[in-house]
Amino acid sequence: MKIALLGFGTVGQKVAKILESRKNFYENKYGFSPEIVLVEDSNSQGYHTNGLNPKKLLERKEEKGDVGSGRKLDLNDVEFDVLVECTPTNLEDGEPGLSNILQSLELGRDVVTSNKGPLAIAWEELKQTSSKNDSILRYEATVGGAMPTINLAKDSLAGNKIKQIRGILNGTCNYILSRMRGGGLPYDHVLSEAQDLGIAEADPSYDVEGIDTALKIVILANSLLDFNVKYSDVDVTGITGITSEALDLANEENRVIKLIGKVNGDKLEVGPKMIPKNHPLAVKGTLNVASLKTDLAGEITITGKGAGASETASSIISDLISINRVRNFR
Ligand SMILES: NC(=O)c1ccc[n+]([C@@H]2O[C@H](COP(=O)([O-])OP(=O)(O)OC[C@H]3O[C@@H](n4cnc5c(N)ncnc54)[C@H](OP(=O)(O)O)[C@@H]3O)[C@@H](O)[C@H]2O)c1
Repeated sequence: MKIALLGFGTVGQKVAKILESRKNFYENKYGFSPEIVLVEDSNSQGYHTNGLNPKKLLERKEEKGDVGSGRKLDLNDVEFDVLVECTPTNLEDGEPGLSNILQSLELGRDVVTSNKGPLAIAWEELKQTSSKNDSILRYEATVGGAMPTINLAKDSLAGNKIKQIRGILNGTCNYILSRMRGGGLPYDHVLSEAQDLGIAEADPSYDVEGIDTALKIVILANSLLDFNVKYSDVDVTGITGITSEALDLANEENRVIKLIGKVNGDKLEVGPKMIPKNHPLAVKGTLNVASLKTDLAGEITITGKGAGASETASSIISDLISINRVRNFR
């Protein structure tokens, strides 16, 4: 499988590292032999039709900050099977991810992405382009990092009707709320602690105002429930108004306050909710959790790390192996 890897930051580099270090394991266990033929970061590009050396790429990125000299090739000029798209999330227009994903799908190539922007902005267009060109679009890493929520619903729960989706899909918010409760500390104090630890961004609004969770809810609703919704269809409240007093009051009633994203009927919402301390959704720290209510299997809940280089790479690689399986079968 020839891979074009766009975005060579935290996630892209980890994917390259794992594909290299587990080469024999993947070949023996899955008959999966990936080779990265194209790599791109914001300013440079590396290409070799017979595959690039991931170790050298990683060393070069570390030493020189680039992956090659200049950016000359368009995806049209490159021989590849799958685009792995790991560029930054852009909520204005989904770029550069959206154009590259669409172009690959139009070329009949498969796509694996960790980038929420294009999916949240242009779901219908992506779905139709992939179906028209018989190309596969996978995006497990966009929701819940390592948690296999989308593939669980599509594969293991195939044949069920999903009635409701609920989850904690943002580790930063969950860390802040867990820490405010555990330490009796005010929001601002915990936020700056989370920023010092690298759990929250310098500008945390995307997380704490519930935007990130809402985008994930949109992706789940569109892909698992066949909705056609956008961010503006979600009723969103973040956690900035939650006080440690409110958390203490909840605690007295054996409850916790969590930022829950939910699809119920045709209603999409994100907001702080009180739930019993021993409820399956009451996960602590940076953990994520997703609960799918189905008609045949009942309620299925999974939990795991919602972000991190190897956790996100885990989802990307499982999507790649799954595409390899489908292509071999066909
Ligand atoms: N990190 C996580 O835990 C995690 C979890 C789930 C999903 N995601 C999503 O995965 C994506 C990648 O995340 P990340 O943490 O790896 O981000 P990152 O560390 O900021 O890396 C982004 C990469 O994209 C490159 N890039 C920027 N503009 C580009 C362009 N126009 N063309 C080609 N490459 C471009 C950057 O180039 P330079 O190296 O030159 O800056 C960098 O290599 C994001 O959409 C993020 O939301 C991340």
